[in-house]
Amino acid sequence: MTTVPVFLGERSYDVRIEAGLMERAGEALAPFASSRPFLVVTDTHVATAQWPRLAAALERAGLSAELVTLPAGESTKSWQHLEALTDRMIAHGIERRDHVIALGGGVIGDLVGFAASIVKRGCNFVQIPTTLLSQVDSSVGGKTAINSRAGKNLLGAFHQPSLVLIDPDTLDTLGPREVRAGYAEVVKYGLIDDAEFFAWCEANGTALMAGDPEARAHAIARSVAAKATIVAEDERETSGRRALLNLGHTFGHALEAETGFSDRLLHGEGVAAGMALAFGYSVRRGECPPEDAERVVAHLRAVGLPASLADAGVSASGARLVEHMLHDKKMSSGTLPFLLARGIGKTYLAKDVDLADVAAYLDGA
Ligand code: GLY
Repeated sequence: MTTVPVFLGERSYDVRIEAGLMERAGEALAPFASSRPFLVVTDTHVATAQWPRLAAALERAGLSAELVTLPAGESTKSWQHLEALTDRMIAHGIERRDHVIALGGGVIGDLVGFAASIVKRGCNFVQIPTTLLSQVDSSVGGKTAINSRAGKNLLGAFHQPSLVLIDPDTLDTLGPREVRAGYAEVVKYGLIDDAEFFAWCEANGTALMAGDPEARAHAIARSVAAKATIVAEDERETSGRRALLNLGHTFGHALEAETGFSDRLLHGEGVAAGMALAFGYSVRRGECPPEDAERVVAHLRAVGLPASLADAGVSASGARLVEHMLHDKKMSSGTLPFLLARGIGKTYLAKDVDLADVAAYLDGA
């Protein structure tokens, strides 16, 4: 078992990573039991794929639980489902010291975390993420949210979980496209500030995608450790350090918006193409060696991720894509922070980006 601590003073918690951990989840959750059964919130897919494993583990540990099953998909991050879930939590008699369990991917984790942040002015929750994207990114760091009519994740709170349990075996039940999309966020940690990890990805990405258990466990542990360090330094994204985690997200957001935030381009796929574009644009500014940008594109394509506008199926003009970027919640004081790179492992926050130049770059990309 690998345990990665997230150091946040009185809000500190552990992320535990181990193949088969679901079977031992009862022991891990026992300290959080109360006189009420645990409320476990999941979606229809995970209810079939993982709930039987967790239910059996809880039963072996003598713990009772009630399951709440929500529809799978992004549209569950809504007022309607937040209202229904918080009603259910209140009817359950949940108290502030109680723990709700989020069993699923980023949608379930974000919704349950936000519900936990507001019920009784804040109760506790545990994350059991079951997708690669949620294991390496969204389950760690306490960002919780639902979507508003005006955009994704516009309503939410910082609310840290009490524990994160990651069983890489849950990835066995995912389709390859979903694992690939999550892998983009793994590569991101190498590109941000860990060139050695990017080289590890180049050597092991294909094995990871094929389900190699050691490669999977290593990539998850290293990604979580990288995220834990950044979150501990800048929990609420105020110093600029946590903003580094948005590498590829501003370009990616434009691509996701252009494709209607749909299955045409999954979030991780948008991030992958977005990272390649951020490196390409850094080359245009004369800041990044072209060969580093070429390595990024080559690796993303080698594992089957999009690394250009064409790969992402987007043919919109640069001006239109920049227009999408201006609706991104990462806008600050009327300017868009861009994560650019001076090379692999050398990402930085650029504050002097000329949007007309970005549009011109995208027109030629
Ligand atoms: N997913 C970016 C962050 O947690 O800050």
